[in-house]
Amino acid sequence: MEWEPNASLQSWTSFRLPAKAAYRLRCTQPEELLRLPELFPLEELPVLPLGNGSNVVFADDYPGIVLRAEFRGIRCIEAEEDTVCIEAAAGEPWHEFVVTCLRNQWYGLENLALIPGTVGAAPVHNIGAYGVEVQQFLEGLQVWDRTQNAFYWLPASAAGLSYRSSLLRTQFLGQLVITHVRFRLLRRACPRWDYPELHGFLRAAHVFHPSALDVFHAVVTLRRRKLPDPHQLPNAGSFFKNPIVPQEYAEELRRRYPQVPCFPQGEGMVKIPAGWLLEQCGWKGIRQGSVGTWQHHALVLVAYGPTTGRELLRFAAQLWRSVYERFGIALEPEVLILPPEAWQPEELLR
Ligand code: EPU
Repeated sequence: MEWEPNASLQSWTSFRLPAKAAYRLRCTQPEELLRLPELFPLEELPVLPLGNGSNVVFADDYPGIVLRAEFRGIRCIEAEEDTVCIEAAAGEPWHEFVVTCLRNQWYGLENLALIPGTVGAAPVHNIGAYGVEVQQFLEGLQVWDRTQNAFYWLPASAAGLSYRSSLLRTQFLGQLVITHVRFRLLRRACPRWDYPELHGFLRAAHVFHPSALDVFHAVVTLRRRKLPDPHQLPNAGSFFKNPIVPQEYAEELRRRYPQVPCFPQGEGMVKIPAGWLLEQCGWKGIRQGSVGTWQHHALVLVAYGPTTGRELLRFAAQLWRSVYERFGIALEPEVLILPPEAWQPEELLR
C-alpha cells in the first residue's frame, strides 16, 4: 500500500484536472483496506475509489482519501447449463475483461467493448452502450464499508442501478469501496444488435447473422470512429445523460423537428439524445479556450489544453442553458461532479 498526503489527481483523471486529494492511496490487496482506520485514526475521512478517473470532474480539491484499488484476478465461480458466474477484481481494466470473457466464450458484455475504466467502476455508473447496460449481467458486489471496516457482499438488487447511476455514486459515495464484481454471463451467444447505428453498420457490411465477435468488432470500430481516445485527448465520454421525456413532448418535438431521434423507454417515456439537442443548438466541434465539444459528437467535452474543473463546468453550463432555453429540457450531468453541489448551472453562468 502506498499513500501520499496533499497529492495531485492530475494523472488520476482522464480530464487531467489539477485538483488535489487530502490523501492519495494505492492498494493492491483488499485486506490492506482494513488498515485504514489505524493509518488515519484522527479523522473519519470519506474514501473515494477511482478506477481510471474516466467519468469524474473534480471542481475542487477532495477533502478525503482518493483510492486506486489495483486488485486483479478473474475467475469462474460456477458453471451451469446456460450461464456462468464470473468474478472479477475491481482493478481489472474493463475492456480487457470483455476480451477475456469473449475468449472464454462467456457472452453478453460484447456491446460494452472499449468503454474506458475498470471493472469496479462499471456498476457504479451502470455503464451502457449499444443497447446493453451492465445491470443486465450483474449478480453482486463485494464491498469494503468504511463505517464498519468490514467486507460484505451486496446483491445487485441492493446496489440500486439505474440509467448511468447507482447507490454507489449517490447514497454510498465516500463510504463503500468495491473489491470484486460478480457477473452472470451466457454460455451461448445471444448477440444484441438492435441499436440502430450497430444494426446499420453490420447490415452495410452484409452481416445478417452476427456472432458475438462480429458485434464486438463493430462496436470497437464505431467507438473509434466517433469518440476521442482519452489517452490522446482528455475527455470523459458523454458529459450529460440523455433526457427521458413524456411521449407527448417527444411527439411535439417531432412535429417541429421531424429528424429528432427518439428511443421509446416504455411507460409513456421517450429518450432523446442529448448530443442531438446540443448539435441543434450549434455546439458540435466548438472550442472556447482550453475546452470544447468533440467535432464528431457534441455530447463529448474535451480538454484541448490544461484546464480546471471549474472552467469545464462553466463551459458545460453554457451548453445546459442553450438546451434549456430552446427545448425547455434541463440536462443532467452523466459525469460524476465532485463536490456534487458544484453543478449549479445558473450560478456558474453569473
Ligand atoms: N447525435 C447527434 N449529434 C451529435 C451526437 C449524436 O445528432 O453530435 C445523435 C446521433 O445521430 C444518434 C443519437 O444522437 O442518432 C445517439 O447518438 P449515439 O449513438 O452516439 O449515442 P448517445 O446517446 O450520444 C449513448 C451513451 C454512450 C454510448 C452510446 C452508444 C449516454 C449518456 N451515452 O450516447 O455512452 O457509447 O449511447 O450506445 O447514454 C458514455 O456514457 O460516456 C458513453 C459514451
